[in-house]
Amino acid sequence: MDQKRKIIVADDSDQLAVIGAELFCETARKAISTTGRFRAAISGGSTPRAMNRLLSRDPYVSRIAWRKTHLLWVDERLVPADDPASNFGAARQDFLEAVPLPPENIHPMTSDKSPPEAAADYQKDLENTLRIVKGNLPVFDLIFLGIGQDGHTASIFPGDQTALETDLWVVAVKGGNPNVHRLTLTRPVLNNAGTAIFLVSGKNKAGVVKTLLAPQPTHLPARKIKPVHGELTWLLDRDAAALLPPELILKY
Ligand code: 6PG
Repeated sequence: MDQKRKIIVADDSDQLAVIGAELFCETARKAISTTGRFRAAISGGSTPRAMNRLLSRDPYVSRIAWRKTHLLWVDERLVPADDPASNFGAARQDFLEAVPLPPENIHPMTSDKSPPEAAADYQKDLENTLRIVKGNLPVFDLIFLGIGQDGHTASIFPGDQTALETDLWVVAVKGGNPNVHRLTLTRPVLNNAGTAIFLVSGKNKAGVVKTLLAPQPTHLPARKIKPVHGELTWLLDRDAAALLPPELILKY
């Protein structure tokens, strides 16, 4: 197996959430012990919500140095924060209101500006918040990603090369479900993360997981996520891993 790629299979979605929360805590601990800060970006969708809720409860909430943590987003639907489709709104409901993250350390992508202006604003936020080695890319310590059945990740959808073929760090796109204007981090930024974790649950993802992890090439956007310096972990539950060959799997 590629030494920079790890596949972990949890028994079910509950254990997936526990392992995800453990990885969040451990990555935070390591980042803060080496750089004094922890910079994480989270995705939307339904899969990460159980994990996010765990982060607001013991034993996890007290293990994280929230004052040294900056939370950003991998992507966002450009809807009001109280819209059920809002990734920030879901995170606020699931854990942000229950953890001692200083408000200035929370960096939502939500914006009432035009999509291109919102993308430019977020790029500035990234410049101010993340470790930027002059002229290089921002470095996230951790990014959590989901996968759509169509092989999208973040808001990088099949057939839309916008976020794959650019030097920009954030772009405005339109698509997905719901089919709305969105912001998404781009491939260069996602692939500059120290740790990237795909969090995937459910039988309905087994087919796309098999395609993405097979040795045969694919143009599906999620295959383009290959951290240049960091580690890629596929954190799956048993249903999502159902079509994978047994030899690929590290039983957690
Ligand atoms: C988004 C998400 C998206 C999500 C996948 C999986 O804002 O739409 O970031 O990339 O991670 O669509 O979503 P589920 O977890 O709901 O299957």
